[in-house]
Order: sequence, then C-alpha cells, then structure tokens
Amino acid sequence: MANHKTIGIIGSGQMGSGIAQVCAVAGFDVWLYDIAHEQLQKAHKNIETSLEKLAAKGKLLPEKAKSAMQHLNITTQFGDLKKCSLCIEAATEKEALKKKIFKELDELTGPETILATNTSSIPITDLAAATKRPDKIIGMHFMNPVPLMALVEVIRGKKTSDETHQKTIELTKKLGKTPVTVKDSPGFVINRILAPMLNEAVWALQEGLATKEDIDTAMKEGCHFPMGPLALADFVGLDTCLFILEVMHKDLKNDKFKPCPLLKKYVEEKKLGRKTGEGFYSYASTIVR
Ligand SMILES: NC(=O)c1ccc[n+]([C@@H]2O[C@H](COP(=O)([O-])OP(=O)(O)OC[C@H]3O[C@@H](n4cnc5c(N)ncnc54)[C@H](O)[C@@H]3O)[C@@H](O)[C@H]2O)c1
Repeated sequence: MANHKTIGIIGSGQMGSGIAQVCAVAGFDVWLYDIAHEQLQKAHKNIETSLEKLAAKGKLLPEKAKSAMQHLNITTQFGDLKKCSLCIEAATEKEALKKKIFKELDELTGPETILATNTSSIPITDLAAATKRPDKIIGMHFMNPVPLMALVEVIRGKKTSDETHQKTIELTKKLGKTPVTVKDSPGFVINRILAPMLNEAVWALQEGLATKEDIDTAMKEGCHFPMGPLALADFVGLDTCLFILEVMHKDLKNDKFKPCPLLKKYVEEKKLGRKTGEGFYSYASTIVR
C-alpha cells in the first residue's frame, strides 16, 4: 500500500510547487525544498493563490484549501527531507544536478524511502545509478499545470522493483491522477512526441513560414490544439524545452531532435517564457497557474 505520510519535493519551480500543492490537498505532510529562498516564497504564494481560485470556482472545498496550506512546509534546509518516506525531485532539467541530488537523498533518507523524479527526459536508470537503492528509484512525470492535468507517466528504471512500481501507481491514484506506465527511454512518451513538435514550430517561425500568432492559430484552429505550440513552449519554459531536446538528441542519436537555433537564442537571452515574463510572447504576470 502507498502509506506515505510525509512527502519531500525538491525544487519549487512551476512543477515542484504544483506537485507540492496536489500532495498537500491529498492530505500528505509536504516539505518543499529549494536552494532559492525567494523562489520558495513565490511558490508558497502561488500555491495559496491557486487553492483560493480553485475554492472560489467550487472545485475544492474551502476547508480543504485551508488544511492543504497547513500541510505545506517550505525549507532551504536539505536535512528537513530526512523524515520523508517519499521524495519527488523536480529541480532543473540537468543530468549532473539531478544525479547529485539523488546521491545526497540516498545518503540522507531512510533505506525504505522511495526516490522519484519528475524528469521530462533523463533516463531513470541513469539517475538510479547515482544511488545504492536502484530498486526504489522511479519516474513520476507530472504534466503542467499539475493541479489541472490528470496524467502522470510512471517510468520504471532497469532495477525498479515491482513493489516500488505498485506503490507509485497507488500514490498517483491517491493524488487524483491517472497513471500510465512507460518504458525508460529518453523523453518517455509525452516528450518523445511533444518536444519535436514544439521544436518544429520554432523552426517554422525561424524560417518565416508565418508569424508566431499565425503558427499558433493554425495549430489551434486546424488541429484542435487548446493552445498553440509556441504559447505552449513558453508555458513549459524555453530552457526546459531546450534541455529536453538536448537529452533526446544526444541519447537517441537522431537529428530530428536537434534544437532549433532560434530556441537556443531565446534561452541565451534569458527569455524563458512565462516564468521570466518574456519568451515568444510577453507576459504581464509571471504567475503561471
Ligand atoms: N515545465 C514543464 O512543463 C514540465 C513538465 C513536466 C516535467 N518537467 C520537469 O520538471 C522539472 C522542473 O521543471 P520546472 O518547469 O518546474 O523548472 P523551473 O525552472 O520552474 O524550476 C526549477 C527549480 O529547481 C530549483 N533548483 C535548482 N537547483 C536545485 C537544487 N540543487 N536543489 C533544489 N532545487 C533546485 C530552482 O531554484 C527552481 O526553483 C524538470 O526536470 C523538468 O524537465 C517540466
């Protein structure tokens, strides 16, 4: 059974804060950790605002929104994660950084603690190799925005045990999400399909096939997409899109995943999309949910 009481989340960006929110709403004690104090404060405020909005829309009981906030703790002290029976890593999509975090979590937490990652593209088996408990390492790939999107890709590494997999499936359902089990391959299913599509939209913009607005309108009106690919790339974060494509290009050895130079240019200029207020489009507010 998924009998976790205390869940640690590493990284309080758009994904970590969303995961913390759904875990707190489901009644778990949550410790949201980040190295950046300011980001943690912003995450705390965003979660509060998001819960208030959900309550105002009648999608969440006001008492539940209140108790979720009581379950939420934010911290810059890595040692606070020691008590967690499950940790979900949602830090920046950089392999070396994630390996370091997994090694440190392995040393800090009890031997029974499951260590999950929200990575979009990095093989779980590679992250598991940084620990002495590869049987307890698993991918939990949530979708953005986490409070609204139902899917979680559950990814087993080569040595992930049946027990860890079963507990993760149960936990995902307890969070009100729909799990699908996916093979451990760079980009899994969602980004194997989505990332090259977003990249192709950037190529279309770079080659001047149409304006950014018309590229997005074409895909919304022509393919029934709820939002255009360039707006979606801004929403995901252009740095995250680039990191995902780089991992897939390197690991799958196929030039169809080669990042478009225009995408790289935006990232170099620190125009990362909604989270920085500017990407392909400009945003007045950087609060995503
Ligand atoms: N953005 C998306 O749509 C999306 C969707 C699914 C999965 N993901 C994955 O989720 C992860 C996080 O993405 P995001 O969009 O939330 O990024 P983000 O840039 O919004 O947040 C990343 C956070 O990680 C923190 N961080 C960096 N180094 C850290 C460390 N050593 N310890 C603790 N925290 C650290 C940063 O301070 C920042 O708050 C990535 O692996 C990404 O691929 C993203």
